Amino acid sequence: MNNLIDGKAIAAKIHEETAAKVRELISQNIQPAVAFVRVGEDPASKVYVGMKEKMAAKLGIKSILHILPTETTEEDLLKLIYQLNQDASVHGILVQAPLPAHIRQEKIFETVLPSKDVDGFHPTNVGKLMLGDTDGFIPCTPGGIHELLIRSNINTQGAHVVILGRGNIVGKPMASILIQKSPHANSTVTICHSHTQNIKEICRSADILIAAIGVAEFVKADMVKPGAVVIDVGVNRIEDSSAPRGYRLVGDVDFNAVQPIAGKITPNPGGVGPMTIALLMKNTVRAAQLSLNQN
Ligand code: GUN
Repeated sequence: MNNLIDGKAIAAKIHEETAAKVRELISQNIQPAVAFVRVGEDPASKVYVGMKEKMAAKLGIKSILHILPTETTEEDLLKLIYQLNQDASVHGILVQAPLPAHIRQEKIFETVLPSKDVDGFHPTNVGKLMLGDTDGFIPCTPGGIHELLIRSNINTQGAHVVILGRGNIVGKPMASILIQKSPHANSTVTICHSHTQNIKEICRSADILIAAIGVAEFVKADMVKPGAVVIDVGVNRIEDSSAPRGYRLVGDVDFNAVQPIAGKITPNPGGVGPMTIALLMKNTVRAAQLSLNQN
């Protein structure tokens, strides 16, 4: 049974659309450019930023990587953001999370100019999303999941969507997207978290179940209604002495157990991950287009 939602293929389609827009901008003498900022040596962040750099290059988007040491002060990081905000040749700014504990992440995100905030983390963009104002930027992972649902012809109108996880990067913005009064949303959304009671029963009532809690293989077969759509956002390292690096990556969904009963399900890897990058590139090109209107 092939019930897989092919995130790689859908992302590739979005990249084609993005590359066409890049060519159009370059023909107008605009070189779309994004600045990546990484603080410290978090191994996962290194991998993610590396993948983003590679994809930007492939699409003709210029990227500038700033790597700062772990000890960087909040003040010095803010100075870099001010510089990038002022640099007219930089259209998008992405500060990779998580940041070291001594830096206030919210302070950094609210300093990035909303018009360059391709992550959609600035309070202005968060507010616009909640208000249904489509002028802002939408965070890349929930934006990518929304595109997966749309392009897989999954009906969200009137659907009960259960989101596991209430984080600012996935859970909350995902809910904001799907509660909007719009043909590709109009969902009834429940957010579950660590204090939720009867989580299994709530999950079982979901038409669409989105797992973003960061607990390895949390979603088991008895938590899924037969035929439901299951989206796995998780990337969890679990120890595995037989794996070359001593660990392997698993999602928030027990894939082997859940796939046979799901109507549709994202593989992991190859589901949500590629979509996050696709949305980031799309947002960057949009930021470059918007900069044209500002001149
Ligand atoms: N860390 C995990 N996901 C993200 C993301 O979408 N953007 C940034 N900047 N950091 C992240």
